Amino acid sequence: MQLTVFNGSPRGRKSNSKIILDQFLSGFEATPGNSFELHYLNRLKETEHFVQAYAEAETVLIAHPLYTDSMPAIVKAFIEELESLSGKEGNPPLGLIIQSGFVAAIHSRYVERYWEKFSRRLGSRYLGTIIKGGCEPLHRSEKQFQKVLDGFYELGKDFGETGQFNEKMVKKLAEPEKISTLMRLIVQLVWKVSGNGYWDDWLKENEAYEKSFAQPYVDTK
Ligand SMILES: Cc1cc2nc3c(=O)[nH]c(=O)nc-3n(C[C@H](O)[C@H](O)[C@H](O)COP(=O)(O)O)c2cc1C
Repeated sequence: MQLTVFNGSPRGRKSNSKIILDQFLSGFEATPGNSFELHYLNRLKETEHFVQAYAEAETVLIAHPLYTDSMPAIVKAFIEELESLSGKEGNPPLGLIIQSGFVAAIHSRYVERYWEKFSRRLGSRYLGTIIKGGCEPLHRSEKQFQKVLDGFYELGKDFGETGQFNEKMVKKLAEPEKISTLMRLIVQLVWKVSGNGYWDDWLKENEAYEKSFAQPYVDTK
């Protein structure tokens, strides 16, 4: 099987998406004869090449982080470039990997529905969406995530053998679907006590903290 892979994280090679893809793809390659080519959607100048790669692919896998319950702008922009393929004969089957900061898989279910619809519109067979939450700390400590990474390896291996996403494995990896009421209360408490430090630090580092409550579209008249 030949797989054409798109990494949709703005962080590119430093992304959690890459760490996850590395695992999935090494499982995929465990089957002799399987191979893949990998594209980074944050290389904006290569868009034309990406569209061509998509059009010529045997099977496509797109991996992206969840951004505001949806997808990063670079992924959306790529989708818009694919319009020329809409309804074309022989578009490749499409599978997704979506990972997020929040732990519960439910956050990614809406964009999962979007991708299913997108595949239908493009006339591509939809292979399914692999979802995993709680992934933001991944790039800082892969060791803590060994079980999750093993899960991606096994899923990739199974996919390499069958050409399908194994439903049982996908469901297991996505757990928890929702967080319990007790856990929600604990998270709210921790949030209240410790504040928004982690994300505030990112904002400060990017000189965006002062603007974080800006309302550029509010009518001030
Ligand atoms: C602008 C932005 C928006 C985000 N929105 C969400 C969100 O709506 N829900 C969520 O669970 N995580 C959200 N996250 C967290 C990312 O999904 C998470 O950090 C992910 O692991 C990043 O993956 P990457 O390193 O492959 O880009 C957001 C992160 C950023 C930077």
